[in-house]
Amino acid sequence: MNKIVAKGGNELKGEVNISSAKNSVLPIIAASILSSGKCVIENAPMFEDVFVISSVLESIESNVFIDKDTNKIIIDSSNVLNLQPDMDLVKKMRASFLIMGPMISKFGSFKISFPGGCNIGTRPIDLHLKGFNALGADISIGHGYVEAKATSLKGNKIYLDFPSVGATENIMMAAVLAKGETIIENAAEEPEIEDLANFLNKMGANVIGAGTDTIKIIGVKELKGTIHKPIYDRIEAGTFMIAAAITRSKIKINGINEEHLKPIIAKLNEMNVDIDVIGESILVNAKKELKPIDIKTMPYPGFPTDMQAQMMGLLCTVEGTSFITETIFENRFMHVPEMKKMGANIKIDGRNAVIEGVDKLTGCQVRATDLRAGAALILCGLAAEGTTEITDIYHIDRGYVNIENKLKRLGAFIKRIDK
Ligand code: UD1
Repeated sequence: MNKIVAKGGNELKGEVNISSAKNSVLPIIAASILSSGKCVIENAPMFEDVFVISSVLESIESNVFIDKDTNKIIIDSSNVLNLQPDMDLVKKMRASFLIMGPMISKFGSFKISFPGGCNIGTRPIDLHLKGFNALGADISIGHGYVEAKATSLKGNKIYLDFPSVGATENIMMAAVLAKGETIIENAAEEPEIEDLANFLNKMGANVIGAGTDTIKIIGVKELKGTIHKPIYDRIEAGTFMIAAAITRSKIKINGINEEHLKPIIAKLNEMNVDIDVIGESILVNAKKELKPIDIKTMPYPGFPTDMQAQMMGLLCTVEGTSFITETIFENRFMHVPEMKKMGANIKIDGRNAVIEGVDKLTGCQVRATDLRAGAALILCGLAAEGTTEITDIYHIDRGYVNIENKLKRLGAFIKRIDK
C-alpha cells in the first residue's frame, strides 16, 4: 500500500508555488462540454480528480488531451453522442455530478449514477435537481441512477435553500443555453464560482453577478471554444500556511489571491501568526507563541470547511483550549480518531470539537480518511516527535499536486513509499 512517511522537528524555509484550484478546474472541465469548439485549460493541476473527470468526459466521447509536460488540457466535445457516462468512473468522484448541468443544457438529457467521492456526510444533490426541474427538466430517480430529460430549458428564478457550491455551478451551467433569463438567489459566493462564470463568459455566455449571492444568466444560442487559466488553489495555499504555522517556521507562498485567503489570514493573525502579502505571494511567519482560537466553518467568505482538518491539526499543538464548529458537513471529523492516535486531546460533541493543546504529538501509523483529513495528518506528522506513516494516501493524491515534494523542498523530512 502506498504511504507517506514524515518525521517531525524540521523547520521549514524557502518558497513554494501553488497550483490551480481543484474546485475551479473540475467544473471548468465539465463546462467545456457546452462548447462547440476546442477549450484549452492552462496551468491545469495534474492530480487524480482531474484525470477522473477527464475520463468521465471521454466516456461520453469527448476528446480530451492531457499534456503533462505543459500542464495543458485540450477538450473537444463537439462530437459527443453518448449521453450516459461510465458508471464506475462517476462513482469514483463526487464532482462528476458537475457534468449534469452542461449535459442537460446542451443535449437536453443525461443519465448518471449517483456520484461518489469523499465520505464526509450524505452530500445529497436535491438542490441541483430542483434547479434543473425549475428550468423545465423532468427528473426521475431509480436503480441508483438520476435521469433528466428536457425538450427545451427555459430561464426561471431559483432560490437555493442553502448556498451549495455544486448546485450553484450546475444550475449556472444548465442555464447558459436556456431560453431567457435565470436568476439564482442565495447562490454560493465561492471564488471558484466566479472563475467558472468567467470561463463561461469567455465561451460566449452571459453570466452576471457570480461571486455574489444573486447570479443572473441570460441564455445564449451557442458557446464557442476558449482558453482559460484557472485561479490559484486557496485551499492548497491555506494548507501550506498551516504547514508553516505547525512547524513554527517562516515561508513564502507564491500564487495566492489575498481576497480569497482573508478568512484563513484572519484566523492565523488571531493566533499570533505574522502574515505579509506582497502581490501574489504571502509570507507566513509563525515564530511567536501561538494562541488558541474558536472557528466556525461557513460558506464563503466564512472560514472554509476544506481547511477545518488542517486547522484542527495546528490547534492540537497550541497551548490552551480551542473550539471548532463544523456547520457545512455533518460527518467531517473523521480525522479526529487519527489525530488522537498521535496524542491529540480532542473531544467531539455532534458538530462541535473542543481541542486542548498538547505539549507534543507523537508519530505513529494513521489513515487518511478523506482528502483534507489526509493533508492535515501530514501536517501533524511534520510537528510530531518521531515518524508518522500516513496510509490511504490516494485520498491526498485526488487533490494535491506533489504535496510531499513541495514540502521536501521547504526542508521537511517527508517521503512517499510506493508499493
Ligand atoms: C464543494 C467543494 C468541496 C467543499 C464544499 C463546501 C467542489 C468540487 N467541491 O463541494 O471541496 O468542501 O463545496 O465548500 O467544488 N447539499 C444539499 N443538497 C444539495 C447540495 C448540497 O443538502 O443538493 C448540502 C451538502 O450535503 C453539504 C452542503 O450542502 O452539507 C454543502 O455542500 P456543497 O456546497 O454543495 O458542496 P459541494 O459542491 O459538494
